[in-house]
Amino acid sequence: MVSHPLYDKVTHAFQSRFQHSPQLVVRAPGRVNLIGEHTDYNDGFVLPVAVDRAVWLAVTPQSEAWATIRALDMRNDEKTFPVDRVPSSAGGWDDYPKGVVWAYLEQMKTLSGIQATLTSDVPIGAGMSSSAALELAFAYTWNHLEGFEISRDDLALMCQKAENQYVGVNCGIMDQMISACGKAGHAMFLDTRTLERNYCPIPEGIAIVVADSLVRRSLASSEYNVRRGQCEQAVRILKEYLPKITALRDVTPDELNRFGQHLPDVVLRRARHVVTENARVLLFAKALYQHDVTALRTLMVEGHRSLRDDYEVSAPELDTLVEATLEVPGCYGARLTGAGFGGCIVALVAENAVSEVEKHVVQIYANRYGQAPKVYITRPANGVEVIS
Ligand code: GLA
Repeated sequence: MVSHPLYDKVTHAFQSRFQHSPQLVVRAPGRVNLIGEHTDYNDGFVLPVAVDRAVWLAVTPQSEAWATIRALDMRNDEKTFPVDRVPSSAGGWDDYPKGVVWAYLEQMKTLSGIQATLTSDVPIGAGMSSSAALELAFAYTWNHLEGFEISRDDLALMCQKAENQYVGVNCGIMDQMISACGKAGHAMFLDTRTLERNYCPIPEGIAIVVADSLVRRSLASSEYNVRRGQCEQAVRILKEYLPKITALRDVTPDELNRFGQHLPDVVLRRARHVVTENARVLLFAKALYQHDVTALRTLMVEGHRSLRDDYEVSAPELDTLVEATLEVPGCYGARLTGAGFGGCIVALVAENAVSEVEKHVVQIYANRYGQAPKVYITRPANGVEVIS
């Protein structure tokens, strides 16, 4: 027997909408990235964790080639679209499942229609990958129903392609890979160039605390694309001096020191963030293995500073959350997580200090900004899976 409130919610809603039990229930997690920010589109390293907040999807196949999906969190909004041809995009939540259909059709794979209900407790737009979770839930469901046996890596790549080309968001591969391949109790060290990965256990007694500033910046996606462009510009210029490089991943801190003078100042700062961040991910993974909490803290603090000053994707609200968290004894580090420009911070906290951190952060933030942040204590969970 599965015991989870969202399992009950999504299956009961399915039963009352479609008058029978779902054949399949799939869960696909959101994520929090511990370190390695804005490195994935530079072929670099990331260290995300799949969390115990997820999209839950209850499904039964149907003979007609249509998908009928009810989104419980969108005031029961229900959408129906074809699955035997590319459905047209309308810019809503259903663009994610439609994008998955598009990606399967691109591979000449035909899909059966589905009836589905959908719910999620991944906060939307907070930088915890609610959209990657949605994509993976549908991609995995069809893979399972049709017996395609597509690997998790390839599902992640298909979903990224759907997001880039169908939804129109130019993201890297981190979010889809961790929703596809996360492992309970572990962070995933991922080389985004080769998709090789190692799982680092999260040491006993350390909690992963996420605080959502509730700030959402409408410029986030255009600014994200500007950052990508600046990284590409850095590679184009540095290539004159380092002909073998194809991405900032290939540039060492020492090489950037030598040749950085040829870059415009802002481009140099963007490149410096990426190059130093890659180095930090490697050190952070080692520190996790060694339970070296002093190193973890230093690396997270440096990572945040680099995102704030060199990459310029922080916000005063995020800086406040990071500073407040770090003030509490037992906090082993904090930094903004995800793309930035609002959204969340992540902190590693001794389990016995979690309630103190939560109290302190809420108090400082509410005093300054007039509203409390949302605080989530998350546990590292598995990647997408069939629940029943
Ligand atoms: C978003 C993107 C990811 C990654 C992060 C920043 O979450 O979807 O691919 O680039 O921003 O690290």
